[in-house]
Amino acid sequence: MERLQKVIAQAGMASRRKAEQLILEGKVKVNGKIITELGVKVSPNDKVEVNGIPIEKEQPVYFLFYKPYGVISSVKDDKGRKVVTDFLPGVQERVYPVGRLDYDTSGLLLLTNDGEFANLLMHPRNEIDKVYVAKVKGIPPREKLKALEKGIMLEDGKTAPAKVKVLSIEKRKQTAVVELTIHEGRNRQVRRMFDAIGHPVMKLKRERFAFLTIEGMNAGDVRELTPHEVKQLRVLAKQNAGKGKNKN
Ligand code: URA
Repeated sequence: MERLQKVIAQAGMASRRKAEQLILEGKVKVNGKIITELGVKVSPNDKVEVNGIPIEKEQPVYFLFYKPYGVISSVKDDKGRKVVTDFLPGVQERVYPVGRLDYDTSGLLLLTNDGEFANLLMHPRNEIDKVYVAKVKGIPPREKLKALEKGIMLEDGKTAPAKVKVLSIEKRKQTAVVELTIHEGRNRQVRRMFDAIGHPVMKLKRERFAFLTIEGMNAGDVRELTPHEVKQLRVLAKQNAGKGKNKN
């Protein structure tokens, strides 16, 4: 038996919080009866409907995708651009990305149909480390990198402390490659952080998400996460939330 809101979230219909709201609003039926309480548990044999539509009980699936540049972190695009699901031709489940990478960012992106898992990983409180490698214009001096490390004021508030490492410098071309580790996931955060110190990003790649990397993969490759990796990610997110600080 599982909680009704969890079953709805796992079907990929809504986040768990949204599922709770749908229940409270009287939009969910179990075996034809409207349910408006949150404590109800259901078995795989129960027929669950949301807004009159039966939920499809999909098995949860989890993928690690090396997103190439020029792909939208979405499952469809009005303008006909490439989307992440174009790279999962044999997958029947309705997967969607855990967070997003910009169209012009490449790198590690998780995909799942497990809404609860996605929410757990995306919640800022859970402080999952993400490692980005950015090629930037100019050669940022130490004090500017220190400012990124300490936290820098952006229009939506100060960023949390980050880790910064210069990987290489091209004096002649006046560019640098910098590794930045952050655990927040604000929109275009890395680009805005480098803009804020006057060294705009020319190229951006996410190389790591928690303990997962794209090492040995090519852009466009996809692999399933192992059950152990899924479990480890859950444990890590919960641990970090409990400690209130980043420990991965
Ligand atoms: N930060 C950015 O600026 N872009 C991304 O795609 C991810 C993080």
